[in-house]
Amino acid sequence: MKIFLDSANLNDLKKAYATNLIDGVTTNPTLASIEGYPSFEKLTHDILSIFTKPMDVVNFEVASLDAKTMIEEGIKLASLSKHVVVKVPVTQDGLIACKELTKRGIRVNVTLCFSPTQALMAAKAGAYFISPFVGRLDDQNEDGMRLIEQIKKIYTNYGMKTQILVASIRGPHHVMEAALLGADACTIPYSVFEKLFRHELTDVGINKFLDDWKKTKFKIK
Ligand code: E4P
Repeated sequence: MKIFLDSANLNDLKKAYATNLIDGVTTNPTLASIEGYPSFEKLTHDILSIFTKPMDVVNFEVASLDAKTMIEEGIKLASLSKHVVVKVPVTQDGLIACKELTKRGIRVNVTLCFSPTQALMAAKAGAYFISPFVGRLDDQNEDGMRLIEQIKKIYTNYGMKTQILVASIRGPHHVMEAALLGADACTIPYSVFEKLFRHELTDVGINKFLDDWKKTKFKIK
């Protein structure tokens, strides 16, 4: 399963990238707005300078609502680098843009998905990724992971190639459930990334082993 960082924070992106355990990044207008970049050009430049390995994926989002402008913006974003995947919202215009961008060989991430039929339509429009937002569904007392299960079933039924990118992740439990359901990718905040490695029994175990090792006076030569 691919793991993307859901962030526009350069420090967090660099720290996560240095582990060689992440496959890319997703950004959105909200994430862009909180980092204090002087321009969108600076944001795209700085983020693209981090993700340089051949298979790295960098998701940038369009900022318009009509298909024509979304297509223009998508072409501009994709021209920045071969790593770019263009995010469009799952609206009628967004899917028209998705179809056209896909036809031009540009990979599209259809975002803000909250229902199985939206995911079905995104796949029909040729989306490279569908981004269902599980946390926001959980927030309003719906079952976010149930949506992933439904989309997986629909895509499997019809052999649809669109990859399921689980988004709006709130904790490691969402990553675990996404993996169990066979989702293709997760995008996670840095705080969740750090938690994926942690278990308190691992810390207890390490401390005990180190204490006991000191008692032995052994050395690894
Ligand atoms: C996905 O690409 C979005 O950026 C993201 O996962 C939204 O998550 P949020 O609900 O935490 O804002």
